[in-house]
Amino acid sequence: MGFRHLDVRREGVVEYVTLNRPDVRNAFNDGMIAELTWWADAAAKDATLRAVVLAGAGPVFCAGADLEWMRQVAAYTHEQNLDDAHAMARMFMALDRLPVPLVGRVHGAALGGGTGLVAVCDIVVAADDAQFGFTEVKLGLIPAVIGPFVLAKIGRSAARELFLTGARFDATRARTLGLVHAVLPPDQLDTTVAEYVREVLSGAPGAIAATKRLIADLARRNPSDAAALCAEAIAERRASPEGREGIAAFLEKRAPRW
Ligand code: COA
Repeated sequence: MGFRHLDVRREGVVEYVTLNRPDVRNAFNDGMIAELTWWADAAAKDATLRAVVLAGAGPVFCAGADLEWMRQVAAYTHEQNLDDAHAMARMFMALDRLPVPLVGRVHGAALGGGTGLVAVCDIVVAADDAQFGFTEVKLGLIPAVIGPFVLAKIGRSAARELFLTGARFDATRARTLGLVHAVLPPDQLDTTVAEYVREVLSGAPGAIAATKRLIADLARRNPSDAAALCAEAIAERRASPEGREGIAAFLEKRAPRW
């Protein structure tokens, strides 16, 4: 697929995906949603991919849903609006479920659905001057599609404050909330992203995919239900070729082969 709203660049086993509508601050419309979903579905099937970096072109990471597009869809039927909302939900779900680490590189701003994109990243590096916010209520909207992903990251207490006020907050607060993992001056973002990428590339790819699945599965279970799932997961891993290779490499004082 040729992309109009994304810039996708491959460097070895790492893919760099850049939201590319800088004139509207990378706001996503139906076209960008379709492209990101298509890209994520293809990436999930790509056995050679080991990590992804998600960034934004121009002055900000992402200004959320395209409000011009929202204005147009307001005139659609309820069914058409539902289809659009489902398409957006599929995009967030596809990104959330990627089997490889998704590293967010956030500069400028991540607002509304832009903060939703931050929430489906595994690791987020943000510029110290970046602003965040769930501004939906200020526009008469609600943070609905992004709700489950954001709640899973920041919990209900913070969501109640931030969803209801729609207030913007800074990168330090975003880190306190667990939305962001490292806050740096803008000129240090790429170095830190590269360090995270290097770190995840040293892990076994099958183990990383299984760990992502486990984290998602555990969120839906209580501790007693989770015990059987965790036992099953580690039993499978110990006997797996990756598990055997990783343990052998450690004991033989050599680098693992993956
Ligand atoms: N949807 C559509 N267009 C948007 C947009 C959005 N979410 N966010 C910004 N734009 C457009 C602006 O309308 C403007 O268009 P114009 O050049 O035709 O006037 C252009 O992008 C630049 O916006 P501007 O506000 O001048 O850029 P900035 O760099 O000073 O500020 C933001 C960037 C992201 C901080 C600011 O645009 C903003 O707060 N946007 C609203 C974000 C929001 O609340 N999103 C939630 C959506 S649910």
